Amino acid sequence: MDLFKAMEERKSTRAYLDRPLEREVLERLLHLATRAPSAINLQPYEFVVVSGEERKRLSRMLVKLLRERKTTCGPSAKEPLPLYFKRRQRDLLKSIAPFLPEGVVFQEFINEGSCNFYGAPTAVIITMDSVFAGRHFTDIGLIMGWFMLAAHAMGLGTCPIGIIHAFHDEIKENLNIPDKKEIAASMAVGHPDPEASVNRARSERVPVSDIVKWRG
Ligand SMILES: Cc1cc2nc3c(=O)[nH]c(=O)nc-3n(C[C@H](O)[C@H](O)[C@H](O)COP(=O)(O)O)c2cc1C
Repeated sequence: MDLFKAMEERKSTRAYLDRPLEREVLERLLHLATRAPSAINLQPYEFVVVSGEERKRLSRMLVKLLRERKTTCGPSAKEPLPLYFKRRQRDLLKSIAPFLPEGVVFQEFINEGSCNFYGAPTAVIITMDSVFAGRHFTDIGLIMGWFMLAAHAMGLGTCPIGIIHAFHDEIKENLNIPDKKEIAASMAVGHPDPEASVNRARSERVPVSDIVKWRG
């Protein structure tokens, strides 16, 4: 697939077929993703690929924690958001909500759906060595971007899942992630459900002219 086409088309997939991904497909995706650059080529990441029953077991724990703690997906901002950010958040809701089945509440769909990796057969958890404590997140973002584009080019869907940070320690324990590794990010990956109307939702972007300043 043409790279520009993949970049235009990729979007978050929030409904998946109950169809496992072959190990070779996941290996190919990880191979392509790790071609992304990293500072000093440190490649500060590792992956825990959680599939099938293990993924469901992890999700059961996450949904339980979500309900117990009444956690919700949010912008993780230190201060109240300026209006233009709030507007973008509202616009995202407006772009997805009309595609949800009747009676489904948007925030519940996102919270529980995220903890369920939206039914994807596989969750990819990206860890980073704690020696980098809070740095090198750019490297992780690049890995995710490469991974999601490659998956799209293969006809697969992905969704970054950030809410799981709220359950960092529990996930580490559940997946036996060593102490010196931190969970940096996670993604759902699988075959998009072509029947699910939520997969027709498409988020907007602000025009580039609104966010760029030219000098020189
Ligand atoms: C770091 C990160 C964390 C995210 N976490 C979640 C999440 O927990 N649940 C979810 O449904 N979407 C999550 N998303 C997806 C964003 O909502 C989505 O990328 C954004 O609305 C743009 O839509 P698009 O991916 O369809 O282009 C996350 C995206 C990023 C980059």
